[in-house]
Amino acid sequence: KRLAVFVSGGGSNFRAIHGAALRGELNANVVALVTDKPGCGGAEHARDSGIPVVVFPNSKSAPEGVSTDELLNTLRELRVDFILLAGYLKLIPVELVQAYPRSILNIHPSLLPAFGGKGYYGLKVHKAVIASGARYSGPTVHFVDEHYDTGRTLAQRVVPVLANDTPEQLATRVLHEEHQVYVDAVTALCDDRIVWREDGVPLIRSRT
Ligand code: GRF
Repeated sequence: KRLAVFVSGGGSNFRAIHGAALRGELNANVVALVTDKPGCGGAEHARDSGIPVVVFPNSKSAPEGVSTDELLNTLRELRVDFILLAGYLKLIPVELVQAYPRSILNIHPSLLPAFGGKGYYGLKVHKAVIASGARYSGPTVHFVDEHYDTGRTLAQRVVPVLANDTPEQLATRVLHEEHQVYVDAVTALCDDRIVWREDGVPLIRSRT
């Protein structure tokens, strides 16, 4: 399968997925890196790896980069099957959501629907989890709809919140699990092992 990964930051999830693909553990190739931040670590890693970087400012006022229509054309030309958001901070345009039904995933660093939505990104998520007194947190992989963090959950991992955790410590523990759960979920997606339950819940079928 052919993947486009959308990144705004360091891109450790992107690197985990790209690495799994290079090692043949994931039946896919990353064929494009789409970013609103051309100088971010994820975009640099893509350039170093020979992956085309598409600058998509995803904002009407930004002069540089491609429009939503141009991005859609590029993704079609590259024959992209699935879109993976990995630390991508902007909302995906509805045109993209409609063009790729059940084909866009995101990873979020909390157990959704807790601590999700527009204001919850980066360390803010982990600060709020600690402040709430929750004993467990962990990443959620979910399908993307036209809102922040509300699409159907595909996979989650539980991570303990320790008594004296700082947001940074919790973030590190969660990020470690993110890399594994995202690679596992994308592997299932690329192997056509997602089964949609009648009520719209996606399930991962184990390898037979
Ligand atoms: C991760 O915590 C992810 O859950 C969130 O943004 C962060 C991205 O990290 N959406 P990285 O850029 O993949 O290292």
